Amino acid sequence: MSVVLITGAAGLIGSEAATHFAQLGYTVVGVDNDMRKQFFGDEASTAWNRETLERTLGASYRHRNLDIRDTQAIDKLFAEYGAAITVVIHTAAQPSHDWAALDPFTDFTVNANGTMSLLEATRKHAPKAAFIYTSTNKVYGDTPNRLPLHEEKTRWEIDPSHKYAGGIAEDMSVDHTLHSLFGCSKLAADVMVQEYGRYFGLQTGCFRGGCLTGPNHSGTKLHGFLAYLMKCTVTHTPYTVFGYGGKQVRDNIHSADLIAAFEAFCRAPRVGEVYNMGGGRFSNCSMIEAIDICEELTGDELEWTYSETNRIGDHIWWVSDTSRFEEHYPEWHLEYDVPAILKDILDRNRDRWHSAGVVDRLSSCVMASTKRNVLGILVDAVDYESAIDRIVEAAEAGKSLTVSALAVHGVMTGVADASHRYRLNHLDLVVPDGQPVRYALNWLHGTRLKDRVTGPILMSKLCKVAAARGIPIFLYGSRPEVLEALRSRLCARFPELIIAGSEPSKFRRLSPEEKAATAERIRNSGARITFVGLGCPRQEVWAYEYGGILPTPILAVGAAFDMHAGFLPFAPMLMQDAGLEWLHRLWQEPRRLWRRYLYLNPLFVGHLALQLMRLRRYDPGDATAPVQELSYG
Ligand SMILES: NC(=O)c1ccc[n+]([C@@H]2O[C@H](COP(=O)([O-])OP(=O)(O)OC[C@H]3O[C@@H](n4cnc5c(N)ncnc54)[C@H](O)[C@@H]3O)[C@@H](O)[C@H]2O)c1
Repeated sequence: MSVVLITGAAGLIGSEAATHFAQLGYTVVGVDNDMRKQFFGDEASTAWNRETLERTLGASYRHRNLDIRDTQAIDKLFAEYGAAITVVIHTAAQPSHDWAALDPFTDFTVNANGTMSLLEATRKHAPKAAFIYTSTNKVYGDTPNRLPLHEEKTRWEIDPSHKYAGGIAEDMSVDHTLHSLFGCSKLAADVMVQEYGRYFGLQTGCFRGGCLTGPNHSGTKLHGFLAYLMKCTVTHTPYTVFGYGGKQVRDNIHSADLIAAFEAFCRAPRVGEVYNMGGGRFSNCSMIEAIDICEELTGDELEWTYSETNRIGDHIWWVSDTSRFEEHYPEWHLEYDVPAILKDILDRNRDRWHSAGVVDRLSSCVMASTKRNVLGILVDAVDYESAIDRIVEAAEAGKSLTVSALAVHGVMTGVADASHRYRLNHLDLVVPDGQPVRYALNWLHGTRLKDRVTGPILMSKLCKVAAARGIPIFLYGSRPEVLEALRSRLCARFPELIIAGSEPSKFRRLSPEEKAATAERIRNSGARITFVGLGCPRQEVWAYEYGGILPTPILAVGAAFDMHAGFLPFAPMLMQDAGLEWLHRLWQEPRRLWRRYLYLNPLFVGHLALQLMRLRRYDPGDATAPVQELSYG
């Protein structure tokens, strides 16, 4: 067995390396503790990618949920595989300048100490392994900005007679420069990786990257600029260019080209090497050149504005000189230039983004529909009557219609998580469950809604109509005893109601086969309305993911199952009217719900005040399409 050990295996580069080396026949041991979620929040979690690796690579991939700073655990892992480890690819890192300044200690220990623990473990247990470290061009700090640059029509360029005219080589000084704290922690690791080569003879290579990108890059405003730029063009999302006239130049390397370079190094590793690694003169562009290419490829015009203030420490011109690597590995060459990278990003994401674009356009013409923007979540300003009309119409026509009743907790889940915001904003009908959401609609948009639309009451009213019109329903979710009681109580209240089927939650994720079978059972039952009671936000995820495959309205109705089954009492009417139902529920289930109400309610009020006073822009289109299904069941 030949093992490739990859740290940061669930990240952008780590996961692509894992797939590549598994396909070459190696056993891949991936180390990743999803610390990216701790750095940047739920939205940035790489857990989905870990699951994808486990599912797609099967036995070739073994995941270890370890922190690279845990020296003992890392040592133990290396001892377990010993000399079978032939390659170590170290990509785990804290990758942001801004975050590093917020918590310098964590940044340094992850980037520098973490690297130390891997170097030591390699030296002890797998000294013959090739060790690849994904360093960064930020080790040179802002020195590149002191090169003799001049402004051309679409880009900054270097004096053609300068020694770096073909690209910046590894001999650029790393001293007397502003690195940022992130640059320092990466540089500390970089020189230690080199030193373990020179001093101990380990086969180490530092790859100093600039813009590493590819179709799997979840580009955001601050990171992954090509992917984000293309996404904005496709989805008609406004883009801001910061400083330098938009003429700042970056070289860009496709992840496939980078991994090919890793493979070349592993086949003939050298000792204590350092390489600048990027698209070089073959693959580089300025911001405005990249915008032109995006527009040409998509046929769309990007809506962009310019801000004079550049980002601190931003390079004005960076093009790597990769000739040292090419000299050592002449078989390697770049396949992708900037247009090819952008085309690949476009081809592999267009459909996903295009539906996001629908939301963007929707948000701009939102006043024409019932959808209104509440903290970036599109909530429909409707009453029971119009909600029921739409649902019944879809049910009778055998059409899909995804519906959720959102209270404060549901809205805040979308505010906090861009992927979930995307799901919510792609539901067909989001009704204002909870008085605070109704108040928000009225205060923000003057909708003059007199009543909210709660999940339990909506369910009960719909069951009444369904019974009268012979529309069969399906009940999905909750515990078997709740479902049993719910069935019998609904039948007692609405004797004509046809309950075509019911199925309790498995309280876990379903495999794709299980999901398909669930959908098939619901379809075969003949149900024309599906009620889902999996709890928020799982039931909204369910509605979103089954929306395209069930030809019925799907209603995510929260606590309605428990309430109608008699497992949860309704709040007294007076409390409901006064917007105090949350207090009643908190009283019932303080342990489970205290965070939801005592933390999220004030947060909701704070955000609402910001939106009301126009101090913050809440853009429904600023959402990330989920990369993978969650398949709750
Ligand atoms: N993406 C770029 O444009 C770029 C540019 C230059 C350098 N780099 C470097 O390349 C490497 C990979 O970049 P990426 O974009 O794939 O990053 P990424 O953030 O997508 O992946 C890094 C992974 O490391 C994991 N991780 C972080 N701290 C950890 C810890 N203490 N223990 C275990 N796992 C941990 C994270 O959970 C994440 O999944 C990084 O070292 C980065 O500094 C990236």
